[in-house]
Amino acid sequence: MIFNGLIIFCYRTIKKAIVLLKNWFFLLNVVSLLVVHFWAPWAPQCAQMNDVMAELAKEQPRVSFVKLEAEAVPEVSEKYEISSVPTFLFFKNSQKIDRLDGAHAPELTKKVQRHASSGSFPPSGNEHPKEDLNLRLKKLTHAAPCMLFMKGTPQEPRCGFSKQMVEILNKHNIQFSSFDIFSDEEVRQGLKTYSNWPTYPQLYVSGELIGGLDIIKELEASDELGTICPKAPKLEERLKVLTNKASVMLFMKGNKQEAKCGFSKQILEILNSTGVEYETFDILEDEEVRQGLKTYSNWPTYPQLYVKGELVGGLDIVKELRDSGELLPVLKGEN
Ligand SMILES: *[C@@H]1O[C@H](CO)[C@@H](O)[C@H](O)[C@H]1NC(C)=O
Repeated sequence: MIFNGLIIFCYRTIKKAIVLLKNWFFLLNVVSLLVVHFWAPWAPQCAQMNDVMAELAKEQPRVSFVKLEAEAVPEVSEKYEISSVPTFLFFKNSQKIDRLDGAHAPELTKKVQRHASSGSFPPSGNEHPKEDLNLRLKKLTHAAPCMLFMKGTPQEPRCGFSKQMVEILNKHNIQFSSFDIFSDEEVRQGLKTYSNWPTYPQLYVSGELIGGLDIIKELEASDELGTICPKAPKLEERLKVLTNKASVMLFMKGNKQEAKCGFSKQILEILNSTGVEYETFDILEDEEVRQGLKTYSNWPTYPQLYVKGELVGGLDIVKELRDSGELLPVLKGEN
């Protein structure tokens, strides 16, 4: 008996789950590629992914697709470390060869196509030689001075530990980049061996593993976090750098080529007529700068013109300076 196409399991009782398990392990032995979707009825992403799976089932008659309600089969979920839904596992010859965490339809399609077409499958994680993987992990851990390998993203953490880690780092204004281990099974498994650390999240500074959440909490408690991890520049420092980016800096709505308000356009015309070089910053693209600069310079409106990091003023002042013939020396920093 070979199951092709889409099979739907949604048993809720343990008894049925056991029957299901038997069927399931039977399946593992007989089909060429088996894709198992661990889903939950309350998660809308899972419903979407079920549609994707139904489409794939039509295209790939030799692949079997199975839906398992993750919470109805805790033994299976635990065995395969299913900590969130949707998660997909790929099996060939009874062996798990790949997994995909999250509702990534293109990625699912790619993996199904790849595994369905490869005749004799390579064992898990060996698609690239090990040296390649180590090199890749080395590059990834060095991708930023401070790298967080986590479940999900800082905006949308997908486990409580990752969430707490992000909160601690943000609280201490630490600048970090992150990698979602759910997006890449090879990295997820590889990094555990590479760093000899079995769990996530993992925090790296200059490519060196600092540790997981417990260690970060200890460092926080002993006030060492700030000395180990690089701090994000404070807004004030950022504004100082920005206002000094060019000798003449115009903070405006839009840019040199295209002003997005009449005042900004007029000030561009005046600056253009002086022939002095200047750079612009589009405050519409950066809410932090837009709000921050008002306080930093105690000037509530835009455009704002700066010479050598000092505020000259807005359109009215620039017009006055032009009319009194003082604009050019001011722009050249002679006043
Ligand atoms: C100002 O000069 C820039 C070129 O430096 C040009 O692209 C822009 O259209 C000019 N703006 C105005 C309003 O004259």
